[in-house]
Amino acid sequence: MRAYHLEATRPDAVRLDTLRLVDAPPPRPAAGEVLVRLRAASLNYVDLAVATGAFPAPLPLIPVTDGAGEVLETGPGVTGLKTGDRVIPHFLPDWSADSLPPVTGRRMRGITMPGSLADLVAVPAASLVPVPEHLSFTEAATLPIAATTAWRAVRTGAVRPGSTVLLLGTGGVSLFALQFAKASGARVIITSSSDAKLERAKALGADETINYRAIPDWDARVLELTGGAGADLVVETGGAQTFARSLNAAAIEGTVFTVGFLSGDGLQTSLFPIILKMLKVVGSNTGSVADLREAVGAVASAGLRPVIDRVHGFEDAAGAYATLARGGHFGKIAISLDDGR
Ligand SMILES: NC(=O)c1ccc[n+]([C@@H]2O[C@H](COP(=O)([O-])OP(=O)(O)OC[C@H]3O[C@@H](n4cnc5c(N)ncnc54)[C@H](OP(=O)(O)O)[C@@H]3O)[C@@H](O)[C@H]2O)c1
Repeated sequence: MRAYHLEATRPDAVRLDTLRLVDAPPPRPAAGEVLVRLRAASLNYVDLAVATGAFPAPLPLIPVTDGAGEVLETGPGVTGLKTGDRVIPHFLPDWSADSLPPVTGRRMRGITMPGSLADLVAVPAASLVPVPEHLSFTEAATLPIAATTAWRAVRTGAVRPGSTVLLLGTGGVSLFALQFAKASGARVIITSSSDAKLERAKALGADETINYRAIPDWDARVLELTGGAGADLVVETGGAQTFARSLNAAAIEGTVFTVGFLSGDGLQTSLFPIILKMLKVVGSNTGSVADLREAVGAVASAGLRPVIDRVHGFEDAAGAYATLARGGHFGKIAISLDDGR
């Protein structure tokens, strides 16, 4: 089968010359597993972090956390799935619905077990979620990490009509959160470094936009836009350089759903906003298979379509990494293995 091996990390993922296309032996499904023919993959920021070495992973590795495809064969003991079923394998295959498995031995697709840059993969049957009828494989491949995370953010923040949601930047997580928040009746404020992207966010339903380059104290602008009240939910994707302003922009008893480290993970900040406003600072580690199932259900019931900036061909997987690393994207970057629809 065709597969990519990430053979070594590179500090700059724009030139990922260590991603090698190889002819690899096809995997076999063990008991409880399913052999999936992958039809599309999609990149997340964590895939860049693996490629640059910022997120440790044993190499060589078939990389890329997210994908979608169809069932080719079921292993012994698997019931309820058949050849041809369209499925999404979850990134954290061993986290069904209960507690997150301990760090030691926790399997992560594309990081500690084979990921989505291959024609075939064997995964636990329990980690598969059906592709919604209205989505292509490429669209479905964008859901595991970004949609699950955004869904958990909106659910954790108890977003409802009248809530205000603040989103940072126009990457994959933020745009899914925008769609889920609008479907829940919330008012959405979104930031970006680009006015053109903010216009596109408005077209997706954003109520207020802030260019964080032009307005570096965007937290003050959020307070102004909310009559001093702040945002009930902040989806904190920015990390070190945005966290303190996110705390400032949050409402009393608001939720700061702490997701990302785009600007680093080291933090020095005052605790006073958390204490005085009684904020709920909640960490995110993607979500369980049950959370993905719920997120997919929300996508299906609202008829949402993932925002995909660009689809690269399988032969241009390194180009997909370069597109993400350059940061000019709006939403998701996908890789088509053979979407077929
Ligand atoms: N913990 C979890 O469960 C979890 C799950 C998913 C993602 N994450 C993390 O969350 C972060 C976002 O992930 P993603 O997949 O959405 O990334 P992405 O698609 O690569 O989005 C990146 C976008 O974020 C914006 N951005 C970059 N630096 C920023 C800054 N300093 N302030 C505000 N916005 C900034 C930019 O938007 P503009 O171009 O519009 O400025 C950029 O295009 C990453 O750190 C990722 O690892 C964590």
